[in-house]
Amino acid sequence: MADGSGTGVSQNGGTIPFKVTDPERIPTPRYYDAAFYQLENEKLWPHVWQMACRLELIPNEGDWIEYSNLGKSVIVVRAKSGVKAYHNACRHRGVPLVPEAGFGNYKVQGFICPFHGWRFNTEGKCTFVYGKHMFSEHQLDQDDLNLRPCRVETWGGLAWINHDDTAPGLHETMGPVLERLDAHGKSNLKAEWWFATKLPANWKIAMEAFMEGYHVMRTHPQLQKAAPALYNGMYGMDTGGIGDAINPNWTMKENIASQVRTLELLSEGMAGMVHAKEVAIAKAMPDLELPEDPQMALMTWYGTLQHMITTQLRAAGENVPDLNAVAVSDPVNSVEFLFPHYFMLPFFTSMSAYRIRPTGPEECIFELWSLTHVAEGVDHQVPTEPTWLPYDSDQFPPIPRQDYSNIPIQQKGVHASGFDFMRLSHEKEGMISNYNRILDGYLEGVAQDKLAAATQMLAGNFDGPILDLGF
Ligand code: FES
Ligand SMILES: [Fe+2]
Repeated sequence: MADGSGTGVSQNGGTIPFKVTDPERIPTPRYYDAAFYQLENEKLWPHVWQMACRLELIPNEGDWIEYSNLGKSVIVVRAKSGVKAYHNACRHRGVPLVPEAGFGNYKVQGFICPFHGWRFNTEGKCTFVYGKHMFSEHQLDQDDLNLRPCRVETWGGLAWINHDDTAPGLHETMGPVLERLDAHGKSNLKAEWWFATKLPANWKIAMEAFMEGYHVMRTHPQLQKAAPALYNGMYGMDTGGIGDAINPNWTMKENIASQVRTLELLSEGMAGMVHAKEVAIAKAMPDLELPEDPQMALMTWYGTLQHMITTQLRAAGENVPDLNAVAVSDPVNSVEFLFPHYFMLPFFTSMSAYRIRPTGPEECIFELWSLTHVAEGVDHQVPTEPTWLPYDSDQFPPIPRQDYSNIPIQQKGVHASGFDFMRLSHEKEGMISNYNRILDGYLEGVAQDKLAAATQMLAGNFDGPILDLGF
């Protein structure tokens, strides 16, 4: 419908409530309607690749972790034969073998059911049934007693699960962006910290706050103030959306100081992403002989900085890529979204990451990681569980705290009478439309290969335009 509300008729003749029919308008009931939420639970989540855990938490054979979303609990375990995943239910009467949010990180021989003590090894095989003689033979078929496997793939230092055995593989779904991130060494990072919070907002509202930079001017004024020409050029002026990293009213020295200040604000604001060790290198850079042309001067300065970060961190024993080489061979965006619920924010050699899970039509769990390279032999404690904080906690780094200040109130706003749809910029808020229309594709049963091809189009789509998804 042209007003972006109501019901759309799907390709299959079925109806999807609140379908996106005008790509620039997202119907608001999608963010609170219980039936829509139920449809997502049935048609989206069981068919997509979900980031289940960081592999650094299960480094040794026998280590396991539990991952659940929408009541479907899975055990991810490092078995002798590799990383495996099983549905977390005893084959006797269904009791979970490990607790929800269990972080087993010790050597286990397998799993013992807490109810009647049946046992399963890490390969999923049922190895012990107490009082076997009391069961009919057809109840004891070995294959049927073994744990039900869940599909799992590893990439990026992560385990990914999918409840759908017929869905295209992880690489087929996400596309070449995975290799590009690999080239940047993003598979070898270690967590420095891991936070989690419950947000009183639909999971999509929470995610959409991280799909554009248009909100920087008002939500993150400190960033705007440090580099006004950059942000105004990208969002505030009719310049074709190309921010000017050079402020013409400043000297070159002032422009470079603004670059360093921006890196410092990003680093402090995210408590990572741009790592403090990288900011220290930028601040210690000597004055360089720079070309006359301001753009060339800035490029020279930036290239030198990336070279210094590469060489200094390598000298410190970190396995970091050549930043200048990978910037040319495998460019990545400052925000990469892996549909449907994982974000990577790569910068220099480090990264922030987010994972979002729905827990109700108007609430979700939001997790954040700060990740960096750690030199071989350095004693580094990986956090084994998230630190849970209230969303308005001042322990959150300043930038996510600023983002979290909008999300819960936006959730209230979408209920307002007469507010029927989100009104998107076709140029800069395209990702919000694009992923919502991929979501609709899942709800209406579009062919999986078409959905995968559309998902690949989200790579580099941060701040990007509305796209023709091909269905
Ligand atoms: S439910 Fe697991 S042993 Fe009975
Ligand atoms: Fe933000």
